[in-house]
Amino acid sequence: MQEINNTLVVVGVQWGDEGKGKMTDYLGQKADVVVRYQGGNNAGHTITFGGNKYALQSIPSGVFNPHIKNVMANGMVINPKAAIGELEGLKQRGITDFQLFISDRAAVIMPYHIELDGAYEALKGGKQIGTTKKGIGPAYCDKYSRVGIRIGDLIDPEYFAERLRDALTQKNVELRALGLEEMDFDTLYKEFLAYGEVLRPYICDTSILLNKEIEEGKKVLFEGAQGVMLCIENGTYPFVTSSSPTAASVPLGAGVAPRYINRALGICKAYTTRVGAGPFPTELEGELADYIRERGHEYGTVTGRPRRVGYLDAVGLRHACRISGINYLSIMLFDVLTGVETLKICTGYELDGKVIDYVPATLSALERCKPIYIEMEGWKEEIEDVRDFDALPAAAKAYLRKIEELTNTEIAVVSVGPDRTQTIMIKDIDTISTR
Ligand code: GDP
Ligand code: IMO
Ligand code: MG
Repeated sequence: MQEINNTLVVVGVQWGDEGKGKMTDYLGQKADVVVRYQGGNNAGHTITFGGNKYALQSIPSGVFNPHIKNVMANGMVINPKAAIGELEGLKQRGITDFQLFISDRAAVIMPYHIELDGAYEALKGGKQIGTTKKGIGPAYCDKYSRVGIRIGDLIDPEYFAERLRDALTQKNVELRALGLEEMDFDTLYKEFLAYGEVLRPYICDTSILLNKEIEEGKKVLFEGAQGVMLCIENGTYPFVTSSSPTAASVPLGAGVAPRYINRALGICKAYTTRVGAGPFPTELEGELADYIRERGHEYGTVTGRPRRVGYLDAVGLRHACRISGINYLSIMLFDVLTGVETLKICTGYELDGKVIDYVPATLSALERCKPIYIEMEGWKEEIEDVRDFDALPAAAKAYLRKIEELTNTEIAVVSVGPDRTQTIMIKDIDTISTR
């Protein structure tokens, strides 16, 4: 059997916004294919190069390299209107030369999903998840309860009519029960057929394409959205998203064999952030949180919400590295920590008087966990222009070595600024892709 060493999964190992967009774009320069395999436009991936900043939500981050095939695979939930809007936005900024392939099996986010997302949140009375209100949860629910519309349906008018009628029969009951306005078949039908026509040139069986690329030895990068702690299976349930952002969901979400996926790069902020509600054992408040939030511009790409900020949590990282089989870590936003006098890293939790070194399953237990910290000396030097690991301040190197020790995972990349060029490669991409 052919040995595969040309695929790599980019996985967020915290609660999202770790810098996956930056790393996908950076690594993508040497890749042939970039694939989004889960999530939808709840993601906000920022890419900065040549003095320009771009924010992508559902379009893969390889779109700036004309030689890259960008794939939106079957595991995604796609809002066609939003995706078309993103493409328009890119075109207006001169990004016209790109290759895009959208899976005919990907789920469609419909307007009633967005309505229901808001309505379910409103009903939670103080226990809101703080979703992005993009309809993600309701769209995945419909997929699993088998009333979902798929991208391929939009270019098959008769079949789409049947699917939409069936879906609306059910959805209008729900909308009515929630006191919301019912949705009209004719209006939705016309609108979504039109989106289908715009997207038609991109729609195909992306599983066939991806397997061919992999078997031909092309370099394929899988771009995770969200992060392992937001995983529906392994995250801080119920404060999670509705898909699995782990490397394990690549085979299913992209239609490739599990044996083709054997390398994952964990994208990890040098500290921790979380946007939306839910447990966050190492959360900080006050001056230090504000200092980090301002230096790191920690405001949501999608919603503009200020992100919650905290110390690095090695317990969470070990959990994420185990679940996603992380081979190497990429430490992001390292420059933000300059000027913090004492850095703390959480090495364990105290739960009901006992020390534990794992993430407990229940929310009630996780909420009772108190972080146990080690302290590390900070550094004062700005590091955004450093391009060589050895040139980093001694305290910065010690902090990185400590992360490796606590997670038992080597660091391959250190990012010292948002720009493509502000990247310290410790292990070359080719080393990563052939390990
Ligand atoms: P993603 O969702 O994982 O792609 O991350 P986001 O794009 O939502 O958030 C990461 C933010 O950090 C973006 O504003 C990036 O431009 C920025 N960023 C990425 N890497 C670095 C870095 O090393 N230093 C600094 N200062 N900013 C970074
Ligand atoms: P990227 O790919 C950070 C969070 C939301 C909310 C929870 C559920 O940019 O890292 P959802 O709308 O998915 O039902 O919301 O998940 N969330 C993210 N947080 N980064 C993301 O994506 C996120 N996508 C969803 O804030 O707490
Ligand atoms: Mg983001």
